[in-house]
This record gives sequence, structure tokens and C-alpha cells, in this order.
Amino acid sequence: MLIAQLSDVHVGGARYRQELLHTAIAEINAAAPDIVVVAGDLTDDGYPDQYPLAFQELGKIACEHVVAVPGNHDARNVGYLRFEDTFGPRDTRLRLELQQLEVALVAVDSSKPDLDEGEIGREHYGWIQEGFQGEADLRVFVCHHHLMPIPGTGRERNQVLDAGDVLSLLRQCRVDLVLAGHRHVPYVWPVGGMLLVHSGTVSTQRTRGFSHPAYNLVRVENGRIDVELRIPGGEGSSLGDYPRDWPEEISARHADPFVRAQRDISLADDQD
Ligand SMILES: [Fe+2]
Ligand SMILES: [Fe+2]
Repeated sequence: MLIAQLSDVHVGGARYRQELLHTAIAEINAAAPDIVVVAGDLTDDGYPDQYPLAFQELGKIACEHVVAVPGNHDARNVGYLRFEDTFGPRDTRLRLELQQLEVALVAVDSSKPDLDEGEIGREHYGWIQEGFQGEADLRVFVCHHHLMPIPGTGRERNQVLDAGDVLSLLRQCRVDLVLAGHRHVPYVWPVGGMLLVHSGTVSTQRTRGFSHPAYNLVRVENGRIDVELRIPGGEGSSLGDYPRDWPEEISARHADPFVRAQRDISLADDQD
């Protein structure tokens, strides 16, 4: 089972390079992935002229299952409405049978208009939980912003505001893979039974901490999850080859200590 993960396309931006996107899409098509995830920042500013161009370019991806979420750049002003008009719903839940694997995928818009910060929002938690309920061989969560800080990106900012609650939720939902973008630095964090896989920017020179445009190919096979970093037109290298199942003591999904906030108990009432 192969997932191609690209993000931070930034169509229309000053440092956008269309030829990089063409090269990356040609390589992705040649790899014939089962799913393609476009993890946000499809446009540079959410302008009306950028959306049709982004749609036209990303339309060249030859895959039956392409899942896209907006990023902070797409959502500016009413950009999130243009996203819906162009690409469809901002949130997606899918159940797919791919290469004999039952895959549950939940993709959520983590952007807020005109904020660079991300938030999943507690109003989404039940919906996410439902999406991962029941039997599945692989559970994949997609959003634009990062749930953990990424090395080489300067001082921490824009992280998902409710990252703690979301990490706990995803862990309890037995999520295997989290696919995100935003910081333009490819990186993998293995956390609490999950792999948080971040893609770089596929088609821009908005690169600092990692100096190449890049995307990821995530292979799930033979009990392993292998993440390959790809530079369009260049070499591939490994971002790690991980076990599909974590030791029970480390994943400890059944024993997450997160306690839901209780509305009826106040510390001020505790006289003892
Ligand atoms: Fe970006
Ligand atoms: Fe972003």
C-alpha cells in the first residue's frame, strides 16, 4: 500500500516553481500510489485566480483517491469557501479497501481564516472518533498543521492549538499515521504508537531548515511503515523504516492518562 504525501504547493506565490510540481506529479504518477494526500497550502494566498490554477495542476495527479485539506494560506479571508467550491469539502472521512488493507482515513481542516495558527477544534472530536470506529487495518489522520514541533524551524509557532487533546484523541482512536505539512521541513516523529509524518514544500523555494523542495512516499507493507523522502527530479532518501505495530507498553493506547475535563468539580470547592 503506497501513500504519496505532498503539501505546501503555494500556487501563485513568488517562490512557487511550476516545473517542480510537474516533475513531482510525474514521479508520483509513475509510482502509482493507492492514495494521494495533499496536506494544505495548495495556494499561496487563497486568491480567486490561484484556486483554478491549483485545481488544474493538481488535477494531473492520476490516482482514484486524492484527499486534500486547506492550509492557513488557503483559508485567508473567504479562501476556505473558495477551497470548498474548487476542491469540495474541507473535511473528509473515507473507508477504503486497498491492497487487502481496510484503511480508515479522516482528514480535517486545521486552518482558521487569517490566522497562521492551527486548531482542530473540540467540535470535531466526536466526528473524528466516529471516522475511526470499528475494524480497520490502517488508520490515517490528515491535517495541515503540525501536532509536534519540527526541528530546524526556528522558535515554535503555529502548532495546532489543541495539539495535546488531539494527540490523546488520535492515540485512543488507534491512529497509525498522521500526515501533515506546514513547516516546509520533512520530518517524522514516532509518538505514542503513531507516526507523525510531515512533508516539506513540494513546489516552492520557500525552504530554510531543509533546503530542498520535497514530498514523501509512505509504504505500508510486510508489517512495516517506510517513509521515503523525495526531492522532485532528484534522489530519494529514507526518513525511517518503522514497525507497523508498536510494543504494547510503548503504544499503551488503552491506558492514555488523559482525563476529560469534568464540569462539575472545581478545585475551589475542595476544602480538604
Ligand atoms: Fe506552506
Ligand atoms: Fe502552512
